[in-house]
Amino acid sequence: MTRKLITGGTVVTATETMRADVLIDGEKIVGLLGADVESPEVDLAIDATDRLVFPGSIDAHTHMEIPFGAATSKDTFETGTRAAAWGGTTTIIDFPIQMKGDSLIGSFEQTMAKAAGNSAIDFGFHQIVGDVNEQSLAELNLVLEEGVTSYKLFTAYPGVYYSTDGEVARVMQWAAGNGSTILMHAENGSAIDLLREQAIARGDTSPLAHALTRPAEMEGEAAHRVILLAEMTGAPVYIVHISAKQVVAEIAAARRRGTNAFGETCPQYLYLELDMLDQGFEGAKYVCSPPLRDPGEGHQKALWQGLAGGDLQVIATDHCPFDFEGQKTLGRNDFTQIPNGLPVVEHRFPLMVHAALEEGRFSLNRMVDVSSTAPAKMFGLYPQKGTIAVGSDADLAIVDPGAKVVLSAESHHMNVDYSCFEGKELTGRIETVMSRGSIIVSDGKFVGKQSHGRYLRRGLNQLLQ
Ligand code: URP
Ligand code: ZN
Ligand code: ZN
Repeated sequence: MTRKLITGGTVVTATETMRADVLIDGEKIVGLLGADVESPEVDLAIDATDRLVFPGSIDAHTHMEIPFGAATSKDTFETGTRAAAWGGTTTIIDFPIQMKGDSLIGSFEQTMAKAAGNSAIDFGFHQIVGDVNEQSLAELNLVLEEGVTSYKLFTAYPGVYYSTDGEVARVMQWAAGNGSTILMHAENGSAIDLLREQAIARGDTSPLAHALTRPAEMEGEAAHRVILLAEMTGAPVYIVHISAKQVVAEIAAARRRGTNAFGETCPQYLYLELDMLDQGFEGAKYVCSPPLRDPGEGHQKALWQGLAGGDLQVIATDHCPFDFEGQKTLGRNDFTQIPNGLPVVEHRFPLMVHAALEEGRFSLNRMVDVSSTAPAKMFGLYPQKGTIAVGSDADLAIVDPGAKVVLSAESHHMNVDYSCFEGKELTGRIETVMSRGSIIVSDGKFVGKQSHGRYLRRGLNQLLQ
């Protein structure tokens, strides 16, 4: 067993900021030593003087190599988990997708075959249920036995992933019976399809029309509906990739009623805006669903307040990268053919460090909570993941808070030909990243092993009220 000591740093968790040396034995943290404690003998000491030592971050929403229309998201588990590591993320939760007519357990096994042996960091899965029928309802139990305790359904994308209210309610009933959490992509797909057809019919084919045909009200409406379905069935519900203030309000109201309703937003909804789609076809770089919103309508303010104040619990990415050339361009003459999704997995944690250090959006402790600790608790990984404590996995991100970095497609490691944060300067540089005691990023260089990542069997939601 290799013993390592991280010396001289400031350890930041969701609840504490302390000067402590972190003692690691093999894969686990075995001690947090105060400045007055004599340093033990170790095989390797890492000097973290003037550095912040954070728990390795958790991205609870990624899509490596998934089909979307005619395209497949560009990052594989190999490239995407490496890029995540560069950004201080040591765990991802990705999604097997059951398409219409597919076996549910078959889709789980196929995604496991892609990820196992090819991931640089640990990974878990949420299961997408794209075809609710008797067979898939039976197979849900097989997926649950594999340690998958969260299931995603869609009120969006009719004809593809969409489920009716009755189908959503049926899977929620099953989840309520065993404590699993239901993830919802909440947009009113049917009303949105009407607006999309009308836009195309009048020749409005540009990327901006993608956003204008997915109004915030239709995100709020769907969130309201699925929260009431969750109340009817008793299942915990977690609304993914929230972009609209209406959804924050729905979750806040539901939580006040005692409902187990939770919310996730993503850096793109906090930092990018509707105008970015309004630059001819270049706007396709910013096409995702739900869409970027007009900050003048107060959406970003509500999302930041939700994260800082607790109405929203998690910051994830919905990482789903497509090249501009050859993939986004599939929709050059018709926005409905642009594959939806943005490349974000590498930049989520650095953006949140910047938001705390430079912008004062929230304390460093709250930042750790929304980006590491709450996702670990939400998805049954705590305290193995999501904190720095004796007995936890030695997943760590050491940050120089005095350094600046500039985000760019020239320097990022995601397998995609553009950056949606091109030129943005951030305060804080991720220097060293450790996964289960192994150094995987050192002085900004990837030194990990591609097969290092392990599948995480997860427990139930630990944030139920
Ligand atoms: O635009 C998005 N969000 N693409 C990924 C698929 C999804 O809906 O999460
Ligand atoms: Zn979605
Ligand atoms: Zn997604």
